[in-house]
This record gives sequence, C-alpha cells and structure tokens, in this order.
Amino acid sequence: QAKTLFTHNILLIGFMGAGKSTVSTYLSKILASPQVEMDEEIVKKEGMSINKIFEEYGETYFRNCETNLLIELQKKNNQIISCGGGVALRDENVAEMKKNGKVVLLTASPEVILERVKDNDDRPLLRGNKNTEFISNMMEQRRPKYEAAADVVVNTDYKTVEEIAEEIVVKL
Ligand code: S3P
Repeated sequence: QAKTLFTHNILLIGFMGAGKSTVSTYLSKILASPQVEMDEEIVKKEGMSINKIFEEYGETYFRNCETNLLIELQKKNNQIISCGGGVALRDENVAEMKKNGKVVLLTASPEVILERVKDNDDRPLLRGNKNTEFISNMMEQRRPKYEAAADVVVNTDYKTVEEIAEEIVVKL
C-alpha cells in the first residue's frame, strides 16, 4: 500500500470549498511529493483568471483545458493533484485519473462550504449563488459522479488539516 502512495498520483476531488487545496498542500509536505493545483496551472497557461476564462471562452472551453491538463499530469508520478471541483464530472477524466492515481473525495456540509467560499469571488459557478440551498442542490446533483470516482472518501467538517491528512493516508 505504501507503494501506491509513492508511485502513483493522489488526486483530490470534491465540491468547491471541500478543502482540496489546503489538504493537498499539507499532504505534499508530509509525503514529500510535489503538489499541483489544477486551477492554478490553467490560470498560468491561459494567462487569465478562472472568471475571465469562463467569460471569454465559456465553460466547455475551461472543461477542455482541465481534461488536457489532467492527461498531461498523469504522465508523471508521485504528485498530489488538487483537481478543480468539476474535473470528476466527466467520465473520461475519471478513467484518466484511475490509470495512474488514487482518487480521494473530500466532502463537507453545505453550511461549512458556504463559510469557506463566501469571501472568494473567483468561482464563476457560485457568483450570485452563495447560499446553502444552491450549494446543497448542486452538491446533490454532483454526488453520484463524485462517489463513483472515489477510492477513498473523507468528510472534512470541523476537522483540522492534520486530522484529514491522517485519515487519507490511513485509508489509502
Ligand atoms: C469548479 C470548481 C473550481 C474551478 C471552477 C469550476 C466546479 O475549483 O475549477 O470554478 O465546477 O466545481 P475549486 O473546486 O478549486 O473551487
């Protein structure tokens, strides 16, 4: 099992605000593996914010960027990859993840998600929709895809990043 951790990639998936970025930073430290933040990579490559990419080119274009980046990342090993919240929604992406990685689904309640996303305005899908009802509906819609993709599921509500990371490492 340790072999899995150190040869394949670990991919974190889940809803916006589930804690993917924070947890991947910490995991990357304790496992001494490079961290990749997919949103950040796309922003760098495209030279514009996520909001701007959605505005200028639309969501499908952004989703294609994600698919292309994922394929590129999966050629390397031993990375902690923090996926954007939509990456696990495409079946072809999930198939790609499984080829060379273990998929960790982070979950959180809509109330906790709202608290975590409320001050960040670079999430086009939540713009003007920052309330628990919207979040909860979107989460329910996505849940089957997220759960089908996951090798491991960890709830992050009211846990420290250390506790979450430990749970992940034990379960992997
Ligand atoms: C999205 C999640 C965002 C970002 C984009 C779309 C989604 O990433 O990729 O705004 O569809 O859930 P985070 O999950 O890192 O917020």
